[in-house]
Amino acid sequence: MKEIVLLASGSGSNVENIIKYFEGHKAISVSCVLTNKSNAPVLERCKRLGVPALYFNRNAFMNSKVVLKLLQSLNPALIVLAGFLWKIPERFVTAFPNRIINIHPALLPKYGGKGMYGEAVHEAVKTNGEKETGITIHYVNERYDEGTIIRQEKVRLNPGDSPKAIAKKVHALEYEHFPKVIEKLLLHNG
Ligand code: GAR
Repeated sequence: MKEIVLLASGSGSNVENIIKYFEGHKAISVSCVLTNKSNAPVLERCKRLGVPALYFNRNAFMNSKVVLKLLQSLNPALIVLAGFLWKIPERFVTAFPNRIINIHPALLPKYGGKGMYGEAVHEAVKTNGEKETGITIHYVNERYDEGTIIRQEKVRLNPGDSPKAIAKKVHALEYEHFPKVIEKLLLHNG
């Protein structure tokens, strides 16, 4: 069985979607979910879904080796950032080469970088009058949103789409494609 660890910072709707997709899967399972927010709604979702979840603070992640050692002991086939908002320290990237992926709610390199997450991205897309947006699934390196792109999917926007409407379209793309991309990576990369 290939195991995935999910990292999330907020609502966790992608986490829930991924957990449900792999429920009963014969080759892949979600071993646990880690969050950097002690009150993140993702914790409630994991409780309801019966998936182990742990909270860690900034020190455990950025300065000590606690989270790194935990991940090394879990030895997941893939670490998946699903709405995780902290930059990944370089030692994680070194420890898990091509084994950490992220989803970004826009068509990178547009609307990436520090501060560009969730609603902020959709607001910027709206302000710039973009005719399309989408999702980018990419490997994580030590720079925000700059790792090798694995998959992009696009959606057309209407001039009247609010940032909320844009978010809804982007989430729909995430729910459809993210679990399948994870599955393909794990089943086709040995
Ligand atoms: C998702 O749209 C994801 O693409 C985005 O956060 C949202 C989390 O939603 N990630 C980033 O912006 C990373 N820069 P969720 O908690 O409902 O899955």
